[in-house]
Amino acid sequence: MEKPQAVLFDAYGTLFDVYSVGLLAEQLFPGQGGALGVLWRDKQIEYTRLVTTSNNGEHYRPFWELTRAALRYACKRLALKLTPEREEQLMNQYRHLSAFPENREVLQALRDKGVVTGILSNGDPAMLGIAVRSAGLADLLDLVISVDSIRKYKTHPDAYRLGCEATGLAAKQIGFVSCNGWDALAATWYGFRTLWVNRYQLPFEELGTQPTRTGTSLRDVLAFF
Ligand code: LAC
Repeated sequence: MEKPQAVLFDAYGTLFDVYSVGLLAEQLFPGQGGALGVLWRDKQIEYTRLVTTSNNGEHYRPFWELTRAALRYACKRLALKLTPEREEQLMNQYRHLSAFPENREVLQALRDKGVVTGILSNGDPAMLGIAVRSAGLADLLDLVISVDSIRKYKTHPDAYRLGCEATGLAAKQIGFVSCNGWDALAATWYGFRTLWVNRYQLPFEELGTQPTRTGTSLRDVLAFF
């Protein structure tokens, strides 16, 4: 098998730790921080699917807005009082999520091999820009690709196609890394060479297809080379 010529990373959950909001959530809502973090994330992803699959995408809203809507829903569902101040605190925390510690060394190692590096994310350009800069990754990424330009979220194939268009490569020449099982699966279906980073010891999706590789940290992407 030919080595990938570009490696594209999912952003939220893969480069940036979406559960790092849990600490603040726990301070604001003692005993419920973990549950809020999980429900918030699940609802956010559910909303991306809802707006992509309904009415030819006419209800599309940027990821930042869906993230806020999902937070409001999750708090209502858990009967947590989300004051405007708390909402701003949590959204601000989401804007500056912690990056996983191995990110920089892995991106640098790929760069040293002459591999094109990038993000392919549901995040809108503004939120991705802030996350990349606050994690200090801007100098290590050649491309930051947002689905916002086509107003369709992953797992729509047009979203993955943006990776081919931006790199000028065929799908099979691109490595795609995600910690989200559903994203790794759909990217495999699309034709990318995939690494599923299973950070939380989860089972993989039970739909028959396996990712090209499975690992436990971003470092495992180097096994492609
Ligand atoms: C992203 C979300 C899905 O960054 O994690 O695309």
